[in-house]
Amino acid sequence: MNVGVLGGGTMGLGIAQVSAQNGHKTILVDINKEVLDKSKTKLEKIMARLVEKGKILQDESIAIQSNIVYSTNMQDFKDCGIVIEAIVEDFNIKSEVFSKLESIVSKDCILASNTSSLSIASIGSSLKISNRIIGIHFFNPVPLMALVEIIPSIQTSDLILKNVKSLIDGWGKVAVVCKDTPGFIVNRVARPFYGEAIRIYEEGIADFATIDWAMTELGGFRMGPFTLMDYIGNDVNYTVTETVFSAFYFDPRYKPSFTQKRYKEAGFFGRKSGKGFFDYNDETLNVPPNKNRELGEQIFERILVMLINEAIDALFLNIASKEAIDLAMTKGVNYPKGLLMWADELGLDNVLSKLESMFNEYGEDRYRPSPLLKRMVKSGTKFFR
Ligand code: NAI
Repeated sequence: MNVGVLGGGTMGLGIAQVSAQNGHKTILVDINKEVLDKSKTKLEKIMARLVEKGKILQDESIAIQSNIVYSTNMQDFKDCGIVIEAIVEDFNIKSEVFSKLESIVSKDCILASNTSSLSIASIGSSLKISNRIIGIHFFNPVPLMALVEIIPSIQTSDLILKNVKSLIDGWGKVAVVCKDTPGFIVNRVARPFYGEAIRIYEEGIADFATIDWAMTELGGFRMGPFTLMDYIGNDVNYTVTETVFSAFYFDPRYKPSFTQKRYKEAGFFGRKSGKGFFDYNDETLNVPPNKNRELGEQIFERILVMLINEAIDALFLNIASKEAIDLAMTKGVNYPKGLLMWADELGLDNVLSKLESMFNEYGEDRYRPSPLLKRMVKSGTKFFR
């Protein structure tokens, strides 16, 4: 089957590489010829490195690269069995592009979007045959990140979902199916990793370095929340938080912070601007963490129970299965354990009592325990086993 990828930027190139590696003739279309030239050169370098490291043979590298056709013309999608869109995150542009796309491809062609924040139902509304729309949300960098969230919308047919799932499974990815709701699984469940860390800082409990130390050294996370926000970019991360917050009709649990907003406003984006929560131009300016174990444990536990509560609530609202939620966080953002499995290990009663004590202390809705957690504690059940 020929695969079309629309948008030849960061995500589009990654998706095209994976498709080509799996033997598909892949048509990569971007409106900007320069982007395509740059992407082609980038892929050449990636392939050369893989050959050098002995991960693939020279012949395979040549075959993969020759599987990709670079084009600025969407008409080249006409023989594709699926087109995956990865263009700029703008509803009006996506909508216009999808209706144009539909006039080019066959009536059986699957139309997918890699959107991170728009609803698949809204994108599908621009199609005449709307039961072929589906969300296929990859993670960056696409060839390295195993997770793919598959999002059928209310229009999507069961057959399209089945075919897409088997295609993505066949690419060796870990495909999880989730509901067409804001943030899908990962970008929803991960919110407290940032939000609660900032809140702890705002309350003056600890500084950035100490919170990061607690999460990496005691919690086993690969990166602390502030290092991660600096890596993602405070401009990007703040915008995602704001988008999720408004998409959830301003549920206080997803409230963005003034702290990150000020960093964004000041242009302290993080790594890319040389300064964010930490200084990257002069590392000596960064204060070392306070390695007080008791303090560290408190920080880690507070963020972890907030993450667990979010994961449980996603299950409560049937966003995805328990297995999918745990896989999403371990394979999409490299969490050391699945959050529901972690909840079992900690004891659901411990998780609930920690949340209840914060809820009582602060009187804020963000600390409200999920009804499913309460129900499970009452009945003495666990997520697994
Ligand atoms: P990007 O800016 O690197 O690439 C977008 C490309 O689309 C650009 O090369 C641009 O020239 C092209 N483009 C814009 N309008 C077009 C049109 N009408 N026809 C053809 N090409 C057009 O953006 P990136 O980061 O690759 O994101 C693309 C999509 O993937 C967005 O929807 C984003 O939300 C989503 N996404 C991004 C992730 C990330 O980490 N960057 C992760 C998961 C999803």
